[in-house]
Amino acid sequence: MKITSAQLRRKWIEFYESKGHVNIGAVSLIGDGSTGVMFNVAGMQPLMPYLLGRKHPKGKRLCNVQGCVRTVDIDAVGDASHFTFFEMMGNWSLGDYFKTEKTAWSFEMLTKVFGLDKDKLCATVFEGNSAAPRDSETAKLLEKAGVLPEHVFYLPKSDNWWELEGTVGTPCGPDNEWFYPLDVEKKNPVFPDDYVEIGNDVYMQYKKTETGYEPLENKNVDTGFGFDRMLLFLNGLSDGYMTDLFLPVIEELERVSGKKYSDGGEDRKAMRIIADHTRTTVMLIGDAQGILPSNTGAGYILRRLMRRAIRYCRQLGIESSAMLGAAKIFIEKIYGDAYPLLLEKEEYILDEIKREADRFEATLAQGIREFDKCVISLERKNEFMAKSNPAYVKESVIGGKQAFRLYDTYGFPLELTEELAAEHGLTVDKNGFDEAFKEHREKSRVLAAGQFKGGLESHSEAATRYHTATHLLNAALKIVCSPDVQQKGSNINEERLRFDFNFARKLTDEEVAEVEKLVNAQIEKNVPVVMKEMSLEEAKEGGFVGVFDSKYGEVVKTYSIGEFSKEICGGPHVASTGELGTFKIAKQENVSAGIKRIKAILK
Ligand code: ALA
Repeated sequence: MKITSAQLRRKWIEFYESKGHVNIGAVSLIGDGSTGVMFNVAGMQPLMPYLLGRKHPKGKRLCNVQGCVRTVDIDAVGDASHFTFFEMMGNWSLGDYFKTEKTAWSFEMLTKVFGLDKDKLCATVFEGNSAAPRDSETAKLLEKAGVLPEHVFYLPKSDNWWELEGTVGTPCGPDNEWFYPLDVEKKNPVFPDDYVEIGNDVYMQYKKTETGYEPLENKNVDTGFGFDRMLLFLNGLSDGYMTDLFLPVIEELERVSGKKYSDGGEDRKAMRIIADHTRTTVMLIGDAQGILPSNTGAGYILRRLMRRAIRYCRQLGIESSAMLGAAKIFIEKIYGDAYPLLLEKEEYILDEIKREADRFEATLAQGIREFDKCVISLERKNEFMAKSNPAYVKESVIGGKQAFRLYDTYGFPLELTEELAAEHGLTVDKNGFDEAFKEHREKSRVLAAGQFKGGLESHSEAATRYHTATHLLNAALKIVCSPDVQQKGSNINEERLRFDFNFARKLTDEEVAEVEKLVNAQIEKNVPVVMKEMSLEEAKEGGFVGVFDSKYGEVVKTYSIGEFSKEICGGPHVASTGELGTFKIAKQENVSAGIKRIKAILK
């Protein structure tokens, strides 16, 4: 390798530090919920409040290398250049320098630090529209910096305007994108056909509103250069899996499968998918606010990734445990230095991968057989009909009921069934799937309503109090520690509650005191504990937290304690919080990296 990933990380940071920037390090990959975006899709996302004008504690010039997760292109993964996780090298001016400095620095960085050929570089700028003027200023500055005048292009908003799609109240603006030939050896490359984007300087001076854009007081710069892609270029490669961010994993997959990546075809595609999805899985579970596979929200996306990787392990003729081998390499050899938390959480990450693999493996083969049966019966029908009627148009849709059965009984995400179908040139009746889904939900509702709702007898009064106290503790931890704190385990007896949750460190004495204060304040207020049954989706929409492990459409019990705590739970609970006494945290323990335990008592 001409340049390793570790060297590239360093070069980026050092260059911007030399221009007065502070390295703020990477933050969690999980979106904070403020924009409705599930994962961090750009380095700027965690900086949103500061781009909108709030003062950043580290100053006005910032830089970092930030992990991002984008899953919209998940189906394209398997080629040489689509990934669900990638890192973005970023730097920001928060109302400080603007276009003059930025154009000069980006050019210097690309040509001097990274050694790209200035005569091959191309740049695009915003051509202007009714909302914002043509960016001829940036065009001129680019030429001044050294970009060939015939390599600067004006393009419309669809190309040269950057904003977080689907959001309002977020910063945005015209951008200057940088392009370089994909094949560095190619003589006389032509823009845009032979070129790919390598980076983006956004001049964030507007705020998105419901109806349009309003100017921001701050004139910001938001830069994002793809780390993985830059590594590729700088090493003269064109296959993203051949850099040191993937190569050791690909070699491991070759070793266990006995197949050769360089042979190409379906085996290579499978290796790429397993590698990409395993990397993203490691990053999402190993994140500071790590998530686990489930049936809703971000957890569902993670489940999709994991199950898709497992399926491709089978296709490659290897056990799903190969994912564990790959994960170990990502953690220990590839990302551990840059993301030390992964090393700390290694055991936990591997356990969770194994757990999901076991869950899925248990039914995967049966599910695939079931799917094959659907295909065979469809083919038979088509054959039969075609014989008796030459004008017959062949059916090519897998029924919604069948897709739902695969989902419900075999844990096949709908997208997996669609993918299997596509391999046979078929599609899936999505509407039919939704209907089958609704029908099932109705049935469960009726069933649950008719069931005897009791069970309290089997619990002692003390245990019941601890159940309710656990909910209050869970809610308080979300306030004091992080909104992404989730219950990872709970155990209750007559004497105490025990609660496991995801958090990287022990709570400080102040935090312990704050948690106790919040819980005891709810007890003093004597808030009624309200139980309501609803479908899982309704509960999710209503902001109830819980382990979303039950199946879609199932009816769940929810418990609210005012607005303070809303949880999905089987109970039992006290009628109102005044019955609890005084809450006290007795002990904190380390369960595994990233998982902490609290033992608490009621006096
Ligand atoms: N936020 C810009 C991007 O993601 C830099 O391309």
